[in-house]
Amino acid sequence: MEFAIKSGTPEKQRSACVIVGVFQAKRLSTAAKTIDEASEGMISALMRRGDLTGEVGQTLWLYNVPNTLCDRVLVVGCGKERDFDEKAFQKVIAATARAVNASGATEAVSYLTELAVKGADSGWKVRQAVVYTEDTLYRFDQLKSDKKPDTKRPLKKIVLNVPTRRELMKGENAAREGMAIAAGMKRTKDLANLPGNICTPTYLAEEAARLKKTFRRLKVEVLEETDMEKLGMGAFLSVSKGSEQPGKLIVMDYRGGDKTQKPVVLVGKGITFDTGGISIKPGAAMDEMKFDMGGAASVFGTMTAVAELQLPINVVGVVAAAENMPDGRASKPGDVVTTMSGHTVEILNTDAEGRLVLCDALTYVEKYNPSVVIDIATLTGACIIALGHVASGILSNHNPLANDLLAASKDAVDPAWELPLWDDYQEQLDSNFADMANIGGRAAGSITAACFLSRFAKKYHWAHMDIAGTAWKSGKDKGSTGRPVPLLMSYLLKRAH
Ligand code: BES
Ligand code: MN
Ligand code: ZN
Repeated sequence: MEFAIKSGTPEKQRSACVIVGVFQAKRLSTAAKTIDEASEGMISALMRRGDLTGEVGQTLWLYNVPNTLCDRVLVVGCGKERDFDEKAFQKVIAATARAVNASGATEAVSYLTELAVKGADSGWKVRQAVVYTEDTLYRFDQLKSDKKPDTKRPLKKIVLNVPTRRELMKGENAAREGMAIAAGMKRTKDLANLPGNICTPTYLAEEAARLKKTFRRLKVEVLEETDMEKLGMGAFLSVSKGSEQPGKLIVMDYRGGDKTQKPVVLVGKGITFDTGGISIKPGAAMDEMKFDMGGAASVFGTMTAVAELQLPINVVGVVAAAENMPDGRASKPGDVVTTMSGHTVEILNTDAEGRLVLCDALTYVEKYNPSVVIDIATLTGACIIALGHVASGILSNHNPLANDLLAASKDAVDPAWELPLWDDYQEQLDSNFADMANIGGRAAGSITAACFLSRFAKKYHWAHMDIAGTAWKSGKDKGSTGRPVPLLMSYLLKRAH
């Protein structure tokens, strides 16, 4: 989809479609008022007669609107004017994207970016409008034999209006950022939606090689199992050895800042399928464990967006990719392994495999002398119990970093909530046979998982994001959400500006 920025009055737009908002209780937005006046009260009459209530997301098509130059007008309900917040803005953009895409119009000029959203400037509205539009129209049809789009004439171009010509540049930048974020989310969704038989650790390594070809500033390195043996990554290898698919540690190194600038390091859990291993999972909904590389997918997506925007910062993306399978060579409960850090781990449950691949990756990234390290992982079912499918969990050993991520979460409307990483929880990991166990019991499962990781992240500022409840949706709309790419991009854009 193409996006452009323009400043002009709605009745003068020579376009297939003009989009304007109305509020409940017959309140017209500025653009709706302009069309209403030009057409001698067409919109206000419809509101008076009850055809249009202004409820959030309601859409109504108007044709042959007098004294306008467009083929049709799409009026969209925005709810109560004083309740119009980020959530309502998202709903309204999504509803219009669906409506225009299903109509015959292949392009549209939208005046929704002029609506006042509490605490948001026009740049934010343009950026979010682009992201929400692409998010709404995303389809995963790579694996369907019939790839026909749902409509004959899909939407091709949206022009977003800004109030004055002075804001054109700002709007164009915001649209560029929005398109990069949307492209990152699309890469994340495409990778995460692929099934385990296609998206293997080797496939992820090939994906990194493809990214390297597209973006000049990106260097890619893949550590094979033999390299990891030399480094002493006994925890990572204890997972990958249970599968016919070789594990890979994938490094994508983007250098956009100067050489002396310490990088942000992103580490993604890339379990391309999690059967649980010998501690095998029950069968119900096990297919969804193909999404257990959602953290890795979000690292690919974020690297894509960063490289696309050529941000003037250094970012290293690391993906710990392995398949967790039961096999003759698989780890058994009670096995003790030695991590790259030298600490020993008693594997009491082979289904707590994410922390095993991540702990060695966290030790490995010390060599980048990071400014901060953020790991992103579909780590614990307990996080879904704690925060549901709304917020991602954040745990950190550095308060300012946690606060920056929470602020980014707000800015991106990509909800996250902090859980405590208190020492009081550490003792749940005590082991009689090794330095630590890989599980801490049922109580506070997300926190003890983060406690485990924290032992390998002592040398730098670190935050852990548990996206078990937010990386994908189940049910009728089963599929990857592309989260938390929006949050990570808000964080990185703030650092870049
Ligand atoms: N990938 C799972 C976590 C998960 C489960 C995410 C369900 C989303 C939905 C992880 O590897 C896992 O199996 N964790 C265990 C840990 C337990 C054995 C301590 C869990 O959450 O049950
Ligand atoms: Mn598991
Ligand atoms: Zn897992």
